[in-house]
Amino acid sequence: MNNSIKNKNIILGVCGGIAAYKSVEILRLLQKQNAGVRVMMTPNACHFAGPLTFEALSGRPVCSSLFEKDVESSIRHIDWAREADAVIIAPATANIIGKMAGGIADDALSTFLLAVTCPVLVCPSMNTHMYESRAVQRNLEILTADGYRIVTPESGELACGTSGAGRLPEPPIIVDRLEKCFTLPDLADKKVLVTAGPTREAIDPVRFISNPSSGKMGYAIARAAEHRDADVTLISGPTALNPPVNVEMIRVNSAGEMADAVFEHMEQSHIIIKTAAVADYRPMDTASHKIKKHEHRDKLVLSLTPTLDILKTLGQRKGNRVLVGFAAETRDLRDNAKKKLDAKNLDLIVGNLIGRPESGFESDTNSVTLFFKDGTVEALPNMNKDEVAHVLLDRIAALDPCSDTAMDQGAD
Ligand code: CTP
Repeated sequence: MNNSIKNKNIILGVCGGIAAYKSVEILRLLQKQNAGVRVMMTPNACHFAGPLTFEALSGRPVCSSLFEKDVESSIRHIDWAREADAVIIAPATANIIGKMAGGIADDALSTFLLAVTCPVLVCPSMNTHMYESRAVQRNLEILTADGYRIVTPESGELACGTSGAGRLPEPPIIVDRLEKCFTLPDLADKKVLVTAGPTREAIDPVRFISNPSSGKMGYAIARAAEHRDADVTLISGPTALNPPVNVEMIRVNSAGEMADAVFEHMEQSHIIIKTAAVADYRPMDTASHKIKKHEHRDKLVLSLTPTLDILKTLGQRKGNRVLVGFAAETRDLRDNAKKKLDAKNLDLIVGNLIGRPESGFESDTNSVTLFFKDGTVEALPNMNKDEVAHVLLDRIAALDPCSDTAMDQGAD
């Protein structure tokens, strides 16, 4: 179920817009993921970015004319259409959008597009008035109805000096949407609630108690669930990460704020995955002004009080939702994870031993063991966190989460 674009054959279609320079970065990102990329350019695109740049970076000839032939003298645009696993048109101008909607084939790219049968991602980019014009909007509706996937342009300052919708999204977002094309929508009718990151418990206005959780695992789960077409809400403590695309993002600071946000959203969720590293204690009192050193020369004693165990409370109100916890341990992983699985009434707990470079809080990879309610234990090999997220969602999907919105409330 992994959404990797590794070894996929991607055609990048570049049109004549100022954002053509961003296509170079899209090419680089696709190559980083070991996709095979070939570039097709409209004649106008060649005025904005040099074919030589794309040729040098992709290591393959660029196709910009209908009358180019490969060594085997086959017709390039038809061959490329047959071999493509997916196509990205970025930037997609009003012109190519109009041609695609009308079935016009008068250059290599538009002719190629009529011949492709794989998913095509269209990334419009143009002046706001052009983008909002009736003709372009009508054509985009036609493309959507025809099964093309449209990446909505961003709003902001445009190269033409105006401000509004029409900016090409950043390359990582476009590549993320491509990854979604390769992912089966097996969570399409599910609402998934994910928590991620650390919490901060304020000591005074400038100090807090926290932990080194980066949020990477939770964000990877939210992103993977969105790729599988779930309706995802991510409740996150402070992190340095970009929010996943198309996910409802709720930012919180403290364990108390996280608890409020979780309980507000639990009702409508079918699957709840609590990845967050929630502080177990908070200062009993938060000083309203910065605590001064000269007032505590010898020692400063903090009194802490336990925070609410959010997951345990969810377990008491679980109903027929699937409830998944995480257990970060420094020793006795199996015993500790199993105890938490029972005590918090979970369907599954993901255990990992922290404190190793290849696994845990700040790492891009993780070595986890899954402990299921029925006693099954599954140790996964060390994988990157995106892969762990997909395996975890595979296992959760197999638990057959209820998709009925009128879910049993369970005991309070
Ligand atoms: N958790 C929670 N609320 C808390 C503490 C933990 O919801 N106040 C959740 C975490 O999000 C995680 C699971 O409980 O999914 C286990 O968290 P962990 O810190 O490993 O264990 P604790 O229950 O806090 O127990 P201990 O600190 O003693 O290991």
